[in-house]
Amino acid sequence: MSTSQTSPQIPPKYLREDLLSDECKKLLLTLPKEKGWLASHIYNYQGFWIAPRHLQGVIACQQQFQAHDSDIILVTTPKSGTTWLKALLFALVNRMKYSIFEQNHPLLAKNPHDLVPFLELKLYVDGGAPNFSSFTSPRLLSTHLPYASLPKSVQDSRTKLIYLCRNPRDTFISMWHFTNNLKLDHTNTNSIEEMFDFFCKGVSLYGPFWNHVLDYWTKSIEKPDKVIFLMYEKIKEQPKIQLKRLAEFLECPFSIEEENYGVVNEIQRMCSFENLSKLEVNTNGKLSSGEKNKAFFRKGEVGDWKNYFTIEMSEKLNYIIEQKFQGYELKF
Ligand code: A3P
Repeated sequence: MSTSQTSPQIPPKYLREDLLSDECKKLLLTLPKEKGWLASHIYNYQGFWIAPRHLQGVIACQQQFQAHDSDIILVTTPKSGTTWLKALLFALVNRMKYSIFEQNHPLLAKNPHDLVPFLELKLYVDGGAPNFSSFTSPRLLSTHLPYASLPKSVQDSRTKLIYLCRNPRDTFISMWHFTNNLKLDHTNTNSIEEMFDFFCKGVSLYGPFWNHVLDYWTKSIEKPDKVIFLMYEKIKEQPKIQLKRLAEFLECPFSIEEENYGVVNEIQRMCSFENLSKLEVNTNGKLSSGEKNKAFFRKGEVGDWKNYFTIEMSEKLNYIIEQKFQGYELKF
């Protein structure tokens, strides 16, 4: 008997819209939608755009997550350097527990997304309550949620929020590559022109980009003890200064001895693109949701957008940036 029949390929979890609860499927029917970057559609929920599989996690974490005053939550828009900052944050906060010079440091064996999990994309993604018993204090967590949509307990507690922002031009290019790369067999990829128009209209993952950034920027000024605003480009430019700034915000500043001993430099080296991207776990590993770890390490550079933007694209986004950020001290 012939066994040549091949079984249909099961898509990775991050593409499985059939795994949604009935409640979530019902809600989706009521939300405005647009063409998706990765899933077939993207939905507008509470004023921001979200992929269907993540909506279920958002609702569950909004309803169930109980923040602790000692929690530290990293917030980003997708593709603004989350993986990098997760690594830096983990190394920084846990430096007494795991010496950065140790051969068996967790960052050498685990992807940063497994060390600092996303609330809505990992812990609550299936709609159920996660088990936090293995977490030690302070709990290091992350999210892409806009400020107004954070679980209420996060807003009401003394939980610290670290916001990482990246130039929208590079964020767009990174998002376009990433979502095309995650498509099954790299088929049905989206053209740069089409996705650029969506990005400019604010229709991007957790977008509009400008609303996300400006909400956290404003909060970082109103509540400087609760929210710190970091920029990808500044960390690239002055890594030591920014790392020390973050350590002070988290109330775990580096001692003179640590600095003299090279701890700050070693954290930087350990978390560099060059180092992390070459590790076995990040070249061959996968997240529990199915994404290949290597998809989170592309170029890690500032200004790659210049290799892709036409003059028209530059002018269009310059104009939008000027309009949206007018009156704020943020320059891109
Ligand atoms: P590029 O696509 O421009 O290379 P996120 O982690 O939020 O998904 O963002 C991914 C972007 O951060 C990718 O940008 C990726 O290459 C870059 N990146 C990942 N690790 C980095 C690191 N250690 N240092 C600098 N950039 C990094």
